[in-house]
Amino acid sequence: MTDNLEGGVLVTGGAGFIGSHIVEALHAEGRRVHVLDNLTTGLASNVPPGIPLHTGDIRSNAAVDAAVDAAQATVIVHCAAQTSVERSMNDPEFDRDVNETGTDMLLRAAQQGSVRRFVFISSGGAIYGETSEPATEETPPSPRNFYGSHKLLAEECVRAAGLPFAILRPSNIYGPRQRSDAEGGVLAIFSERIVGHLPIEIHGDGRQVRDFLYVSDLVDAIRLAISCSDDVVWNVGSGTATTILDAAVILGEHLGVAPQLVTRPRRAGDVDKSLVSPALLRSTGRWGPPVPLRDGLRRLARSLETVSPVDSLNQRRVELHG
Ligand SMILES: NC(=O)c1ccc[n+]([C@@H]2O[C@H](COP(=O)([O-])OP(=O)(O)OC[C@H]3O[C@@H](n4cnc5c(N)ncnc54)[C@H](O)[C@@H]3O)[C@@H](O)[C@H]2O)c1
Repeated sequence: MTDNLEGGVLVTGGAGFIGSHIVEALHAEGRRVHVLDNLTTGLASNVPPGIPLHTGDIRSNAAVDAAVDAAQATVIVHCAAQTSVERSMNDPEFDRDVNETGTDMLLRAAQQGSVRRFVFISSGGAIYGETSEPATEETPPSPRNFYGSHKLLAEECVRAAGLPFAILRPSNIYGPRQRSDAEGGVLAIFSERIVGHLPIEIHGDGRQVRDFLYVSDLVDAIRLAISCSDDVVWNVGSGTATTILDAAVILGEHLGVAPQLVTRPRRAGDVDKSLVSPALLRSTGRWGPPVPLRDGLRRLARSLETVSPVDSLNQRRVELHG
């Protein structure tokens, strides 16, 4: 392991859910961090004060070059993405443009600058598809949607670029600041509905299995990926199977509100079981054990106590129509 952080770190998508948590953690360590984000789903208010925010698109050469230069980046953590599975199915070209072409453009800027490590946030949930057993890094990918296919293509771009890299494949990440309309946002949707005393729609019988991981565990994996000198591909998940019904009930307990559940027909393309094995990452001896789901949901519930449901809904309206 070496420290790749004498220079700056550029976090793309740093105004979003996961990106803002990594920015916060690196900033707290005293690292020099810059953010490149076009604020499509991210919020400027998610970026801690004092961190330069370059408002621009990863598909713009000018915006990317300016951000890499200003950050004097030796490391890029690439979190920016089109994260809606639904949108990827309705507009596959747009999804490919952001998720594959955008990654490629960033890699080209990285090659021309002094970047020594490229950390790409891919997606375990999306690329493995249905998993009867927890997927390992050797499990053949089988994406069920364009979002997953384009994340896989982006992984190929990262491998082909010739820069030292880490590819992380997270499971379903949850925690404060997550939007309810992006990938893996099921617990954000449940929180919003429970806090607002609104019914939760469960598609199917609720026994679909997911691998929920608290955002701080992913942040720890990203920090490790930055400091590591080998080219690595790591699944980042809990490896623990939880039904979405159980997750809703536990979240309700922490929020002090019994969730009202409404069943709806299964949706085409939904997977029954999505689980990744973090064994390879754990074998480093420098990650885990992950935060237990009950503890993570307690932290999430606490963070929601400071935001009233009305504030949260108003914020969504402003974002959607502003
Ligand atoms: N949340 C999960 O459960 C999960 C699971 C697996 C992988 N991921 C991956 O983690 C990363 C972060 O996801 P998130 O959940 O924080 O979503 P998010 O929507 O909160 O964050 C994405 C950020 O990227 C920005 N962005 C989007 N398009 C951009 C563009 N063209 N140029 C510049 N910025 C752009 C958005 O404004 C936003 O701030 C994504 O790559 C996502 O695919 C997330």
